[in-house]
Amino acid sequence: MILRKKLIAGNWKMNKTGAEALALVQEIATAIGKQPDVEVVICPPFTALASVAPVLDGTLLKLGAQNMHPEAGGAFTGEISAPMLRSFFATHVILGHSERRAYFGETDTFINQKVLSALKNQLRPILCVGETLAERESGSTLKVVQTQTEKGLEGVSKEQAASLIVAYEPVWAIGTGKVATTEQAQEVHAFIRDLLTKLFGEAIAQKVRILYGGSMKPANAPELLAQKDIDGGLIGGAALEARSFIELVKAAAAAK
Ligand code: PGA
Repeated sequence: MILRKKLIAGNWKMNKTGAEALALVQEIATAIGKQPDVEVVICPPFTALASVAPVLDGTLLKLGAQNMHPEAGGAFTGEISAPMLRSFFATHVILGHSERRAYFGETDTFINQKVLSALKNQLRPILCVGETLAERESGSTLKVVQTQTEKGLEGVSKEQAASLIVAYEPVWAIGTGKVATTEQAQEVHAFIRDLLTKLFGEAIAQKVRILYGGSMKPANAPELLAQKDIDGGLIGGAALEARSFIELVKAAAAAK
């Protein structure tokens, strides 16, 4: 029995117009065909959700967003809510990405509100955690990851926890071409799994997928995906091109 199906999620960040997104998704959907051993999620910008959603119908691809506001509606200029995402049949949402934390001042408390709101609205949060280079060099990696994980998941019930996804993304590896070594990544993934065990119990912690993110590419993916606690990838740069993204999905299928 496969305990955890591998998951490859594409984080397109602020890239692709609706028309460009449509073309990329069509190419990915055709090439992937039936790959039932891997779960594949694409997270285009909000403005492309409407054009992409109908194409995903009947394919194995699932739709995610890159962020959301915790409230269901109201006077929050420029924001998007969980019910709005659900109306495009989104099933996943990336929360607490390091770019949100660094450039938009998102705190663990605010990210926690989003996690709770996503779960309440049947969206699966992909909670991102990870240390900066300075934090790694000062030896505080595990402490940072522990705080972000525990605070981000405060108030999540055991029942809800089963649908969580966590992404470990060392900030120094994102978009830099510097990938964490398999040992560095596995160490933090195992640490996160232990934290989840303490929070939600062994059975649930064994079900939660923990993705690695940060310069994951077809060349380094097989080794990372072979690690015991690395259950997939959150892919930035390599998700913007069909060929590399598909190769990553294939690497995940081969690593199962
Ligand atoms: P990258 O981005 O693959 O371009 O490093 C990953 C991410 O930020 O989610």
